[in-house]
Amino acid sequence: MTDKITLVEVGPRDGLQNEKIQVQTHIKANFVNQLSQAGLGEIEVTSFVSPKWVPQLADAAELLELVEKSAGTHWVLVPNANGLDLALANSVSHIALFTAASSGFTQKNINMSVEESLVSFRDLVRVFREKCPQGRVRSYVSTIVECPFSGSVRPSDVASVVRELLEMGVDEVSLGETIGVATPQELLAVAEEVEKVAPKEKLAWHLHDTRGTAVAGVYELIKRGYRKFDSSAGGLGGCPYAPGAGGNVATEDLIYLTDRLGIPSGVSLLEVAQASLPVLESLGRRPTAKSQLAVLAACNLI
Ligand code: HMG
Ligand code: MG
Repeated sequence: MTDKITLVEVGPRDGLQNEKIQVQTHIKANFVNQLSQAGLGEIEVTSFVSPKWVPQLADAAELLELVEKSAGTHWVLVPNANGLDLALANSVSHIALFTAASSGFTQKNINMSVEESLVSFRDLVRVFREKCPQGRVRSYVSTIVECPFSGSVRPSDVASVVRELLEMGVDEVSLGETIGVATPQELLAVAEEVEKVAPKEKLAWHLHDTRGTAVAGVYELIKRGYRKFDSSAGGLGGCPYAPGAGGNVATEDLIYLTDRLGIPSGVSLLEVAQASLPVLESLGRRPTAKSQLAVLAACNLI
């Protein structure tokens, strides 16, 4: 395990997908480019999903034209063959598939059962490898602790989906605590099962912070040896298919935590804190993420 933390910034995708007010494409592009400049080497930029289901991300192709291509790894969410065709047509070389450990959520989210999604992903991974041999594939497994539709999820169910994804050749799996209910103990119970089928290096954690427990979870996972976490600038976010789910853990809060722990992420806290301001302004919101507010106040910027 490296002694550096890697943060995967998901604000431009997860942070915005649930927003009803349309953010202009050039504002999203500046957001992505500023996040790169702040030192975030991996950013999930957008999704190729149905524009009827997620209108906010209907500008995926135009956005990809505007973002700095050489600025690191740009992930794009892909749900099906249609999405993969669009991703390849737009020269995307880092795709993120997404399924869940519970069928209730998978059905609402991508209109498939978990089993159907895994059958479909097998084909998607094969086609992607043929067409883009230098590319990388990550996959989310959502609802790792609780599903808003099917209730509690067993850690062993999470582990069996992770095992199948790795067997089909996915490079890394991001474990999604989609609705932000988990205590650190519950996350550790998931870790214990998943470690039976996957090395820590192939896992990332994607914690929504609906109830303010995500940083505590990240701290325990760091102590257990994990080094890769998804987060969202300004704590933006939520999922259209997880009612009431809050945003991802704020990137600023993880930069602050890991810097102070002496396992730096190499990302500028101040620059990330500033990057989401124009997006928040478009949405008619003020910043609310704790470490974002603290650093902006310390620099007399709010
Ligand atoms: P469907 O209705 O089953 O798809 O939707 P379909 O194949 O029957 O096609 C229906 C229509 O959608 C057709 O168009 C297709 O062409 C079109 P029509 O003939 O009606 O004009 N279509 C597409 N258009 C653009 N891109 C595509 C695509 N596929 C079909 N890829 C589908 C299936 C997956 C498309 C739909 O369910 C969908 O888009 N869902 C959105 C899912 C989504 O974005 N959810 C949020 C992200 S997941 C998340 O937030 C969780 C995560 O953060 C982790 C965590 O927090 O746990 C990742
Ligand atoms: Mg999410």
